[in-house]
Amino acid sequence: MADRIPTVLTGVKPSGTPHIGNYLGAIRPALGLADRYERSLLFIADYHALTTVQDAKEMTESIYDVAATWLACGVDPKRTLLYRQSSIPEVFELAWVLACTTAKGLLDRAHAFKDAEARGKHVNAGLYWYPVLMAADILLFDTTVVPVGKDQKQHIEIAREAAERFNHVFGETLVVPEPAIDENVMTIPGLDGEKMSKSYGNVIPLFASSKELRSLVMKIKTGSEALEDPKDPDTSLVYALYKAVATPDEARAAAERYRAGGMGWGHAKHELFERLDAELAGPRERYAKLSADRGYLDEVLAEGAARARRIAVETLWRVRKATGIDRAPV
Ligand code: ADP
Ligand code: TRP
Repeated sequence: MADRIPTVLTGVKPSGTPHIGNYLGAIRPALGLADRYERSLLFIADYHALTTVQDAKEMTESIYDVAATWLACGVDPKRTLLYRQSSIPEVFELAWVLACTTAKGLLDRAHAFKDAEARGKHVNAGLYWYPVLMAADILLFDTTVVPVGKDQKQHIEIAREAAERFNHVFGETLVVPEPAIDENVMTIPGLDGEKMSKSYGNVIPLFASSKELRSLVMKIKTGSEALEDPKDPDTSLVYALYKAVATPDEARAAAERYRAGGMGWGHAKHELFERLDAELAGPRERYAKLSADRGYLDEVLAEGAARARRIAVETLWRVRKATGIDRAPV
């Protein structure tokens, strides 16, 4: 059995331009976790994206976009191994091994392909296999903790079952990971009050220019109270976004200003814009530089992949030995 090095790992699918819902719901919380673990890995799940992104140019752009986005938001590539899933061939070998001990019935119950099926979409075999590949991503690095959004809960359950089943058949070999699902991370609303999502066309892009950011914030729906009227922060979309980005103290102070009256919606939106702009100005500037420097991004990703592979090769070797297919990895 492996030593349990406290290891945090998460994967990000390259698809679409990131929005502030992704930032506040996934990126910012994950950055906070990296420092608390001895080993931290963050990878771009490009082969997972292939189940839906089937345009070469779009795929390549999105891969660099994810790398530039996370680095711009503060991932330190010296501490966190940042790599592409596709650079780690051991992932795919482990996926096959896991498929052979995982019950088909477990995959039959997976939401992801069932939802796609229910929406009348074409379901490729990759989508059906998605949880096995994801289990391999996780188990290959003796991951102890996987921070994910609520929608990924079932996938982590499947990864745990895959590890337990393998261990049951071949003896204690794989570390069984724990999910870290922060139930308090709120769902960030979009401009129309629905969940902010690229599928709903209601997003504020994370790296919108100051000018675009201001004009999008001005479009957020508000009530029709007069300037002098007290306003209820808890039913306000403008406040919900402010609260998500600001510190608890800032949010409390703003709630008092809403309730006191005398502050119009124009002013409230202006405060939200200023707060968002202050938070995002640094990342926006870094993103512009990073995304124009693919040479640097390639270097970071190659370095991350080389370091990650050292761990991967060892785990796979342990797995192969356990199965009796123990040719030394080349
Ligand atoms: P989208 O809904 O725009 O397609 P994704 O499904 O690609 O976004 O989400 C990527 C990550 O961002 C996930 O971890 C998800 O939980 C988080 N996320 C996406 N939208 C929101 C939101 N509106 N509020 C909070 N977190 C979100
Ligand atoms: N399925 C995840 C998503 O859609 C991405 C992902 C792939 C992942 N492999 C992973 C997340 C391993 C955590 C760990 O968001």
